[in-house]
Amino acid sequence: MWVKKTSLFTLRDAVIERWRDKPAIIFGTWRVNRPLGTAARLIWDTKGTLGMGDLSIPWKPSDQEIYIIGSGFTGRRTSNVLCFAPVQASAKNGRVHPHQKPVPLLLDLLRKCLAGTIADPFAGSGSTLVAAKSLGRRAIGIEIDERYCEIAARRCAQEYLPLFGDDHVGWTKDGAS
Ligand SMILES: C[S@@+](CC[C@H](N)C(=O)[O-])C[C@H]1O[C@@H](n2cnc3c(N)ncnc32)[C@H](O)[C@@H]1O
Repeated sequence: MWVKKTSLFTLRDAVIERWRDKPAIIFGTWRVNRPLGTAARLIWDTKGTLGMGDLSIPWKPSDQEIYIIGSGFTGRRTSNVLCFAPVQASAKNGRVHPHQKPVPLLLDLLRKCLAGTIADPFAGSGSTLVAAKSLGRRAIGIEIDERYCEIAARRCAQEYLPLFGDDHVGWTKDGAS
């Protein structure tokens, strides 16, 4: 899909438009305007840095925003601050994608999604698909970069073992996940 990318209307917004009123969970940043129809904003507290950030100010980034759109979510009410370690680049069996999300965080998010197929139109290394598979959910991933398609397929073919796999075990303010 080709979309004229401006700071006001991004590829993300084009996908959301076509997604219509189905529920969506979208990772984002305060640097880009929030998607239209955002019903709630979660904060992913990464506990560590996510990149260097602006070195001229005495704060370093350790969070990311997650936008909730539409209805179709369920489960126990928990804090909107989700504390999960990021996937470390330097760790043994570390990151395979520069923007790889930790599977424990995705498990936490997907557990709140009502029954149905999970779709990730920007699947990257397939973390959403791995999480969906481990919850016994059907999932569809779309990824433009063939290298990442192969990585995602390989990860999906493996069993997900939180303690010894390619992610770090997460923790939440409500207890270990
Ligand atoms: C933020 S990353 C996703 C990372 C993923 N959540 C993970 O854990 O590995 C976004 C991905 O979207 C892909 N992408 C960008 N434009 C795309 C498009 N038009 N269609 C499909 N995938 C696209 C990029 O190649 C990139 O791998």
